[in-house]
This record gives sequence, C-alpha cells and structure tokens, in this order.
Amino acid sequence: MDDTTASATAPSEPQGPPQVQVEGLTMAFGSKVIQRDLDFDIRRGEVLAIVGASGCGKSTLLRHLIGLQAPAAGRVRYGGDDIHTDDAELQARLRRRFGVAFQSGALWSSMTVGENVMLPMEMFSKAEAPEREEKARAKLALVGLGDQFDAEPPALSGGMRKRAAIARALALEPELLYLDEPSAGLDPLAAAQLDELMLQLRDGQGTTVVLVSHELHSIFAVADRLLFLDADDKTMTALDTPQALLDHGPDKVRRFLSRGQQP
Ligand SMILES: Nc1ncnc2c1ncn2[C@@H]1O[C@H](COP(=O)(O)OP(=O)(O)OP(=O)(O)O)[C@@H](O)[C@H]1O
Ligand SMILES: [Mg+2]
Repeated sequence: MDDTTASATAPSEPQGPPQVQVEGLTMAFGSKVIQRDLDFDIRRGEVLAIVGASGCGKSTLLRHLIGLQAPAAGRVRYGGDDIHTDDAELQARLRRRFGVAFQSGALWSSMTVGENVMLPMEMFSKAEAPEREEKARAKLALVGLGDQFDAEPPALSGGMRKRAAIARALALEPELLYLDEPSAGLDPLAAAQLDELMLQLRDGQGTTVVLVSHELHSIFAVADRLLFLDADDKTMTALDTPQALLDHGPDKVRRFLSRGQQP
C-alpha cells in the first residue's frame, strides 16, 4: 500500500446536515446528456475527489455545483438552499461562501497577480487596501508565489498561473474550495506542496475541498472520499474512500485506481 494513504484520515461521521446535497442531478448540453441521476452529499470538512475519464463531465459537474450552469433535472442544495435559485441576492450570498479555481486557472491579464487575488476582497469584503494587500501576499505565499505579487499573469508559467488562481480562490477564506485539476502542470515538489496545503486547510480551518484530479498519488494522499463518474454509463458508479474502492470497488474503478501502482 502506498504509505501516503495513511495521511488521509477516514471521513468522520457527518455532523449535522451535509454542506452540499446533490439530488437527482442530470447535466446536459441541449439534448446531449453528460451525466445523469447523480446523488451524493459533500460533507463539511472533507476532501472529496471527483474522478473519471477525460470528457466524462467533471468540470461540468463543478459548474453545476457552483451555480454557473443549470441542471437539466435535479438540484444542488448548499446548506439547504438551492444554488440555482431565482433569488439573485441569495445566490450571490451563497457563492461568496466558496472559492473556485477553474481548470484553466483563468486570471485577468490586465491586472497584476496581486490585484487578481485582491479582487474578490474588493468586491465582497470591507477590508481596507492595506489589509487586502497583506492578505493577498499571505495567500500567494501559501501557494509558493510570495515573490510574484507584482508580476503580470502572462509572464507566469502555466503551473504558476494555476497556483495564483488557487490563491485568489482562497482570498475570502471560503468554507468550501472547488479546485479543477489543481496539480496538472505542476512539478512533483509543487504538487506535493499543494497536497500539503489542502490538508492544512482541511485540518487547520475545517475547509471542505472538492478536487477534480487525475493524479492518483495526490488522490490517495489527500482525498477522504472519491466520486467516480463513468464516461460510458454516464452516471456515478462509486463513492467511497480511495482505499476501499481500490480494494473492492467496481472493476472499472479498481482498474482506474491501480494504474499508477503497476510496475
Ligand atoms: N459548452 C459546451 N457545449 C457543449 N458541450 C460541452 C460544453 N462544455 C463541455 N461539453 C462536453 O461535455 C462533456 C464533459 O466535458 P467536461 O469538460 O465536463 O469534461 P471533463 O471530465 O472535465 O474532462 P477533462 O478531464 O478533459 O477536463 C464533453 O463531452 C464535452 O465535449
Ligand atoms: Mg475538466
């Protein structure tokens, strides 16, 4: 067994209602169904990995979870409230509680890295300029970009841009963090530091982390539970700890999870 597995604690018994409830969610673009009948909870303070083949709908699921794309059927509840509510004020209030770093690590190229990280604080917090700067510098230091505050995004490497986007996602100290492929394009050391950061956020601040990833090493190191989206069946086929799924999950999930462990 990979010894990094030991550092992921078993998911604690859920306390109180789940943070997010996904109920009968079907996602589609026009008539093309991407995934159907998704039913799962996101528990407060867990690291949940969303896994599946390229194109199965992981990024699409994140867009539904954050309220950016409306379900074809079903709903996503955030602390009991429907994230796709028609009440714009309620939706804005819900969205403010979580941070998102997209797969592309999109940053505004007309602003410096520091300004990108301060932007959510300017929009959604009452922090004054010096406090915003201090916080932004601290978030950048957390992702290993402490010296890039004044850098222009186009001058950063892909991996650095990705980490800057994570710093921005952390700007408002969210209770829930959505990360789409955060370690893609990072060198092994930077990827391991990012794993460490996710565990620090979970264990130190009780932050919930929902992570899309292909990196098996990272999944086994940080994920409390793993949700598998099947590209052929177009629905979720497994949800359990990575180790339980590796040991006795469905065949396809076991094959997916054991590929990094073949000689
Ligand atoms: N705007 C769109 N319009 C139509 N189809 C789309 C759109 N965005 C994504 N899709 C389709 O939805 C499916 C799921 O895409 P998605 O990006 O969610 O996959 P993914 O699991 O994140 O893949 P990857 O691992 O490559 O990032 C794909 O078949 C894709 O072609
Ligand atoms: Mg994707």
